[in-house]
Amino acid sequence: MIRVPEHEPPAGAPHSLSSLGVVLVAAGRGERLGAGIPKAFVELGGRTLIEHCTSIVTGLPGGGHLVIVVPEASASEALGLVSHVIPSGPSWEVSVTPGGRERHESVRFGLEALHPQADIVLVHDAARPLAPAELFERVAAEVRHTGASVIPALAVADTLKHVAADGVVHETVDRAPLVAVQTPQGFPREQLAAAHDRLGSAGAIEGEDQPTDDAEVVQRAGGTVRTVPGDILAHKLTTSGDLALLEALLASQNGDPR
Ligand code: C5P
Repeated sequence: MIRVPEHEPPAGAPHSLSSLGVVLVAAGRGERLGAGIPKAFVELGGRTLIEHCTSIVTGLPGGGHLVIVVPEASASEALGLVSHVIPSGPSWEVSVTPGGRERHESVRFGLEALHPQADIVLVHDAARPLAPAELFERVAAEVRHTGASVIPALAVADTLKHVAADGVVHETVDRAPLVAVQTPQGFPREQLAAAHDRLGSAGAIEGEDQPTDDAEVVQRAGGTVRTVPGDILAHKLTTSGDLALLEALLASQNGDPR
């Protein structure tokens, strides 16, 4: 693990922000985007996704420890990028650590690198670069308030169909109980770490059995997960179409009429 040195709190100074930990997972290959570089290093409005997310997290009041999980070969590049966007002052400690082959491994490595004092953890996908500070705060507040695992969720607006591999529609699915789930997802640290340890010790997971978010890791370990309202700005970058959508969202945030 490497630390961004100029932002470490002075030795012996009280670390008022220590209870919040954020694991930013940015170690994916981004093959579906096809940019030829890891997705978190793609630029949106002149800044990489890692820079957008770091800037939002290190602007959160109260401070804490941010661990950014990146491909091993990209660690020094990530450090160079984020050092420009971290506000000066001791409130946020920022570290960069190498990720794993699958998302859940990257989260586990990030948790292991997290400051021991962090007792609430938010896990966020770098692929959601515009997730606003209010969403981080809403999720963290609900974890603090309930002591439960908390995820942001949006109602599904489209009609949903069950479709066979040959493209033929089987049936319409009742969308009323369905939601689309985003990050940041928040957890009491011990609950999330125990769930990831259990998953890791169960041996290799194949193909479609991979958990695609941390709420599922907690649920597989028998934990309960609650929801709070999500935010359209937390849209995930997966394909080039998403990049165009995120560019438009960013421009509208910046007051650019387009
Ligand atoms: O691939 P996907 O877009 O679903 O990945 C979600 C997030 O998890 C991304 O921010 C990606 O960088 C991260 N990830 C990771 N390590 C992996 C795979 C994905 O940190 N091995």
